[in-house]
Amino acid sequence: MKATNIVRTVLTAALGAIIFASCGKTVTCEKVEIVPKPQQVTMQEGTLKVNPARVEEKITYKTDAALGEEAYVLEVAPKGITITSSTPAGAFYAMQSLKQMLPADKSVKAVKLPCCTINDAPAFAYRGAHLDVCRHFFSVDEVKEYLDILALNKMNRFHFHLTEDQGWRIEIKAYPKLTEIGAYRNGTMVEKNWNKVDSVRYGGFYTQDEIRDIVKYAADRFITVVPEIEIPGHALAALASYPELGCRGEGYEVCPYWGVFPEVFCPGKEETFKFWEDVLTEVMELFPSEYIHIGGDECPKEEWEKCPLCQKRMKEEGCANEFELQSYVTRRVEAFLNAHGRQIIGWDEILEGGVTPTATIMSWRGTAGGIDAAKKGNKVIMTPNSYCYLDYYQSRDVDKEPLAIGGFLPVEKVYSFNPYEGLTKEQQQYILGVQGNLWTEYIKTFDHVEYMLLPRICAIAETAWTLNGRDYADFAQRMQHLRTYFDANGWNYAKHMFEKAE
Ligand code: ACM
Ligand code: ZN
Repeated sequence: MKATNIVRTVLTAALGAIIFASCGKTVTCEKVEIVPKPQQVTMQEGTLKVNPARVEEKITYKTDAALGEEAYVLEVAPKGITITSSTPAGAFYAMQSLKQMLPADKSVKAVKLPCCTINDAPAFAYRGAHLDVCRHFFSVDEVKEYLDILALNKMNRFHFHLTEDQGWRIEIKAYPKLTEIGAYRNGTMVEKNWNKVDSVRYGGFYTQDEIRDIVKYAADRFITVVPEIEIPGHALAALASYPELGCRGEGYEVCPYWGVFPEVFCPGKEETFKFWEDVLTEVMELFPSEYIHIGGDECPKEEWEKCPLCQKRMKEEGCANEFELQSYVTRRVEAFLNAHGRQIIGWDEILEGGVTPTATIMSWRGTAGGIDAAKKGNKVIMTPNSYCYLDYYQSRDVDKEPLAIGGFLPVEKVYSFNPYEGLTKEQQQYILGVQGNLWTEYIKTFDHVEYMLLPRICAIAETAWTLNGRDYADFAQRMQHLRTYFDANGWNYAKHMFEKAE
């Protein structure tokens, strides 16, 4: 038989819906439908009948060193399933694809899979999602659930935002007050009313054993946890614990309000650098990630302008202004981390007073910072608020939505993001990847986290994994299938994109 008769190459734009048609007791998967969309799917004739609970026993694993680090080939043939990859990560992603070819309904005992070959590899090496556990705290089990969602979407970086004005969330042995004092606030502003603060003590933190548990759970799913320690702003919880690290040296409290506050760390003092180095030393022991995020966003400079020690430091270091003082801080902390074999990521503000060529920039105030950084030859992670801020409203009908920080970011807009826009081919090579950010000022429960995350994180995952050949209508169709897994896992998700289709 001619190859053309038996092989039908189907680029995933043409995949259409996966349909599990019930045929007696055997369920038939008629079409392959996967999110994020694989690079190439080739359909063949024939089917393979499997018991979903025992599908792994049918699988032959092969190694092909020529495949990319996270690439895989998944073949479903009448005789069985073969997964080929160069690394265990590639095999894991093949399994995520295979999982999506099986029904979410765990009671199904027999499935007929269509024979096919999937050749797949990610467009970007960094495919991330961030979670702010400071404004509101989420348990270890909830963080693990978050990681499960990322794994299903072939995401490989979890940006763990651990320190803030409103709470310090990681045990640091050398500074026990960070969690004795800094992990708890005495109240929280009510909704968006800056004049109304409740009197409920709120907080929590992860012990170092719990952090290790999370890091291992993530690693088992080929997700690297990138910890973020905010330097030098968003420091009130740390300053409430160790007031001597601030310019004023006293009178701080773990902040009950949302926002940006003038009280930041004092870089005029050597003990502040010792604090950062001690904290980062413990952080490096806990997190094997090559990248450590050192924050750098939203650091007001007015205290530094008035502080004699900060001004003295600026004179000694030849800083022309306070932005350059922040640059001095970033450079010094980066040198410390580099000396321990680590690299820094900072929010795009770290560009402002001059940046080292080795810092990686996380572009959040739109893409301008990222474009500027890529032009300079710095590595970039694109997470512009205009496309990637998952705390924004998903509908214009805000009265029907849970209270959110603002904005309007429906899944279709998220999906439309092109991380390369505005960059030449040469500059594009500096874009490491894409990330969705979830700030939690107005997100108190994990159910609400899921609602903000799903389905928008799937759109980010497809941008990060697939990039080329994306088509929203096709994505929306495949999401009809993926949502059955959300339902089966008990994950809460926003329904707007499905309601439109109905
Ligand atoms: C940020 O949203 N402040 C990075
Ligand atoms: Zn100072």
